[in-house]
Amino acid sequence: MKLWGGRFGKPTDKIMEEFGASIHFDHILWREDILGSLAHVKALRHANVLSAEEALLLCDSLSRIEHKIKTENVNFTTQDEDIHMNIERQLSNDIGELAGKVHTGRSRNDQVALDMRLYMRKQILICIENSSALQQQLIHLAKQHMDIIFPGYTHLQRAQPIRLAHHWLAYAWMLDRDITRLKHNFSSTNILPLGAGAVAGTSFPTDQEFLARELKFDAIYLNSMDAVSDRDYLVEFLSSASLIMMHLSKLCEELIVWSSQEFSFIELDDAFCTGSSMMPQKKNPDAAELIRGKTGRVYGSLISMLTVLKGLPLAYNKDLQEDKEGVFDTVKTVNDCLIIMKGMMASLKINREHIDQSLQAGFLSATELANYLVKKGMPFRQAHERVGSLVKYCLQKEITFTELDLNIFKEFSVLFEEDIIPLLSAANVVELQTTLCGTAKASVMHQIATVEKHLEETHLWMSEKR
Ligand code: ARG
Repeated sequence: MKLWGGRFGKPTDKIMEEFGASIHFDHILWREDILGSLAHVKALRHANVLSAEEALLLCDSLSRIEHKIKTENVNFTTQDEDIHMNIERQLSNDIGELAGKVHTGRSRNDQVALDMRLYMRKQILICIENSSALQQQLIHLAKQHMDIIFPGYTHLQRAQPIRLAHHWLAYAWMLDRDITRLKHNFSSTNILPLGAGAVAGTSFPTDQEFLARELKFDAIYLNSMDAVSDRDYLVEFLSSASLIMMHLSKLCEELIVWSSQEFSFIELDDAFCTGSSMMPQKKNPDAAELIRGKTGRVYGSLISMLTVLKGLPLAYNKDLQEDKEGVFDTVKTVNDCLIIMKGMMASLKINREHIDQSLQAGFLSATELANYLVKKGMPFRQAHERVGSLVKYCLQKEITFTELDLNIFKEFSVLFEEDIIPLLSAANVVELQTTLCGTAKASVMHQIATVEKHLEETHLWMSEKR
């Protein structure tokens, strides 16, 4: 007999039963479902809807079920459709008719809204933790690689020299924004929907303030229809996760390119690569490629959620059951990727020799040579043209700036003097980029101090939310 079977004249079609069930994925919400039911029973007791004895029996039984699920293989069934009715079934198997009182003043609509929020609250914190751990790793690398001068690229063409630390920190900043978004997402998640019932609220005197305190919610929905249908916080999570994946994917692309023989700037650790079943010499950057690839499924879940929600009339519709699988998959994917990424970053080796070689070719000092002429009074456009011609000359002769005689420089502009020689060294050029966001050492150190301060604030914030 279905828990809602009273008005039905025949059993559910077998295929429909399978089709409508969510237990095969929402079973992971069992902890949250029990936690929510415990609070709900306490609220019913608080409102004098249940006697002290009934509340005690219900809570004891819920705790027994919790223990049973933890320690035994409890058999959830598709006949009972979802985790909420499966747990109620367990309750009725355990204490009989009294179990029927647990759903007083509650609908599965506010129940599932509550469970998902309790679940997401935890998952958002875990995701912040993994993001900060990767951020910490990037900061560690930035400190370690502070004095490695590296080609900065635009259009994947060598552009200007930078510190490798600066490159790693760019990703630390992306994660900084990701963490800010997740913190905001925590707030939009942490609102109590219980008390909304199916759509209208409930006529039982459920004390929502009491429930919010019991379940550590920061706020309460003031509109029951909004409470049962709001999935904005899931869209926000999927969108934050999509951005994290986009950032990781960009970093992976760089690791893949840099570890190719063509670049040879880095070597990824064997532990994060695999071989080829046919070509004995191969070492493939699988971890990085998989992270790049898995970005697609996270984007897919975001689009799928947005599509499920559009056009839904208020309030609960069964379409909303489709909110879960993409979110569960994304929670796993994004956390796995953050953890793998950290391991990959911690173990990669830098090939200084190739990096240094790359700084020789590519005329990375060109912009600074033009700036030099500007500082001596030449308009920038003209300076740009002069140095451009100098580059063309070098390309024809197949030489670099460092192989040029000062006399040749002078042929391109009489303003060139002995003091351009230091500008031909990438390390010196880097030190001239002294804007707050520049790649000079002092600026990069300032960045590190600032991100580290943000990290500290995040740790503090986390300890308050736990
Ligand atoms: N399994 C359902 C879901 O995930 C629970 C809510 C069902 N509510 C209902 N009125 N059928 O959305």
